[in-house]
Amino acid sequence: MPSTPSQSAEDYLERIHELIEEKGYARVVDIASSLKVKQASVTNMVQKLGELGYLHYVKYRGLVLTDKGRAVACKIQQRHATLSRFFSLLGLDAETQQLDIEGIEHHLSPATVSCLADLAEFLEKNPDVLRQFTKSRKNSKTKPK
Ligand code: FE2
Repeated sequence: MPSTPSQSAEDYLERIHELIEEKGYARVVDIASSLKVKQASVTNMVQKLGELGYLHYVKYRGLVLTDKGRAVACKIQQRHATLSRFFSLLGLDAETQQLDIEGIEHHLSPATVSCLADLAEFLEKNPDVLRQFTKSRKNSKTKPK
């Protein structure tokens, strides 16, 4: 049994946790539509996550994360928040952030995430440095059109 969930398992745990936080429950149909996958894929993954001890099904309540599942989901959420904090400092809009973070977050090592968290904190504590960087970007030749 792998000690850490696969990238796609992480996506599921993250979304299930978000749905439970938002609505109080996570239905297969909602997970499928928000991850843009088939319900059958959700059922398969939910079964696998159950076997790995990340969640279980409770009658009348639906999917419930175990302590282990919640711990992993919280870590994933924190990593997303760190990246969002960093991208916000760079002035990237919410939509770009969401797309890009979902695209890269499962591929980053803890070392890189830790470095970006420290860089975000450094830039927050040194607004002059951030201002200099933002100003220098005004003349950027790499800016997308
Ligand atoms: Fe995420």
